Amino acid sequence: MCGIVGYVGPKQCVPILVEGLRRLEYRGYDSAGLAVQVGSRGIEIVRAVGKLANLEAALQKNPLAGTTGIGHTRWATHGRPSEANAHPHVAGRVAVVHNGIIENHVALRRELEASGVRFASDTDTEIVAHLVERALQGGARRLVDAVRAALARVRGAYAIAVLSATSPDEIVVAKADSPLVLGVGDGEMLCASDIPALLAHTRRVVLLDEGEVATLTRAGAEITTLDGTRVERAPKTIDWSPTQAEKGGYKHFMLKEIHEQPRAVEDTLRGRVDLVEGDVVGEAIGLGADLATRIQRVYFVACGTSAHAAMAGRYWVEQLARVPAVVEIGSEVRYREPVFGPGDLVVAVSQSGETLDTLAAVKTAKAQGAHVLAVANVIDSAIPRASDGALYTHAGPEIGVASTKCFTTQLVAMLLLAVYLGRRRGTLAVPEARRILDALTQAPQRMRVVLEREGELRRLAKKFMRSQHMLFLGRGTGYPVALEGALKLKEISYIHAEGYAAGEMKHGPIALIDEDMPVVALCPRDAHFEKTLSNVQEVRAREGQVIAIATEGDAEVAGLLGGAGGGDVVSIPVAAPEVLPLLEVIPLQLLAYYVADLKGTDVDQPRNLAKTVTVE
Ligand code: AGP
Repeated sequence: MCGIVGYVGPKQCVPILVEGLRRLEYRGYDSAGLAVQVGSRGIEIVRAVGKLANLEAALQKNPLAGTTGIGHTRWATHGRPSEANAHPHVAGRVAVVHNGIIENHVALRRELEASGVRFASDTDTEIVAHLVERALQGGARRLVDAVRAALARVRGAYAIAVLSATSPDEIVVAKADSPLVLGVGDGEMLCASDIPALLAHTRRVVLLDEGEVATLTRAGAEITTLDGTRVERAPKTIDWSPTQAEKGGYKHFMLKEIHEQPRAVEDTLRGRVDLVEGDVVGEAIGLGADLATRIQRVYFVACGTSAHAAMAGRYWVEQLARVPAVVEIGSEVRYREPVFGPGDLVVAVSQSGETLDTLAAVKTAKAQGAHVLAVANVIDSAIPRASDGALYTHAGPEIGVASTKCFTTQLVAMLLLAVYLGRRRGTLAVPEARRILDALTQAPQRMRVVLEREGELRRLAKKFMRSQHMLFLGRGTGYPVALEGALKLKEISYIHAEGYAAGEMKHGPIALIDEDMPVVALCPRDAHFEKTLSNVQEVRAREGQVIAIATEGDAEVAGLLGGAGGGDVVSIPVAAPEVLPLLEVIPLQLLAYYVADLKGTDVDQPRNLAKTVTVE
């Protein structure tokens, strides 16, 4: 996620902006820049690729002096990391920094180019700068009027800060579905993507609501809605420490990221779903329509959590696109002398885009003529660079070593790919595709409902934190979710856990069942419900303790597990089968988190683990 800072007041702004960006480094970035109003010279910018130290070195060479400025750390979503794509972006007398995704950027760019605009970057952000400059040229009286006129053309998520040489000592900011907070100082005003960047100057903050615009001057902030209606908003006082503020008030990054999942899914879906046509927007998939019809096999390769997402993808690709699909973990592919060919679409799934085992498998597949599509969360990372195309998740940086929001956004990417392939190959009818995509766009709200049950999982964690083992069972796409739940528990709480296909119980694992073996069973009302319920009955018959993840209001599950010692039920909302994995995994993530927190392990940095495994 990008970081934005802004300052208007009596002090030199550059040190304040750089320190503010440093406070936002935890959000992850690949380039940074500042725009400062430099007296009569108008607005000047300095930008640099890489870490803030590179920006500071650039500022040494080209110092900026001024008391009004904006700064930005960029987490690339459109356009590779480069100085030309780094923010701020300038058009005429206007400079803009932006965090978010503009969905209609292609149409707006075409319109502006047709009117003679020559773009200097590949970003969606530069479009906003041109729209604001064009509004000023068109006679907008104040900068805020020009910003409102520009935003009236924009669809998508944005938090922006705008400077103009026409309005010295003034910053205009706006927010829609992307974080932005104002800092209220004495004779000075600040803005930032997140509170940590403000705390060195003030603890009085104003939280903008969706669709609000504010003009910041030394005197304070004037807030309006997009249509110009004045808004009065009293400041709040923040009592967090800077470290607490980086975690948004959560105890660990992992818990913050579990709660970020609905937003991460919304951002990953943004601009990719056409509900009218019942289709996925092709440009967003990174795979040509002709190839989509020609491939004879889809071969997923990934590691760890990403392999679990790939397993769900395999079910969906076969169900919706009727093309044979397999999944293999990267470390096995690379040493198995696999056979790839031009009829293969190899889908390499990786949050970091740097996992060596997956990257090696990609190179093997490419060498044998396969077409490789990367599904990654980090733009321009090694695996997308080594692939023929990329489908990016937009989860934002994931700090906790245990992957959570990247898993659910990978599931979204898998389903988008399967729908895209099914529609290109004619195996998925429009009404069915529309049903699936509609369910997907509704999923974030259902995920929020599940997150509200956090207290139940905290209670269950207390009950099971001393377990030595735990078994996770699921069927269909519930099987990879069971594997993921087991991985979460073992990697952060150090309790041994296994995920199993529920149908495999009778082939061995049922021998493990006794009163000391808790079993988490995914048994929502889907096509596998009856069979999985019988697995739960088998466990209960052997005194096994069951935690059932069930569809809310399911009296049959409650009846089976009701009564003292019968077991526990965690409910998830009724949902389309394709969306169930997005809901089922959240209780498993929360259970693992609270068990680990109660055990006092290092939740964000578990022992022996690294966030990115770039070794064999
Ligand atoms: C998941 O919680 C682990 N951190 C680990 O299994 C991870 O998923 C695996 O190393 C793959 O990483 P990648 O997605 O960055 O390729």
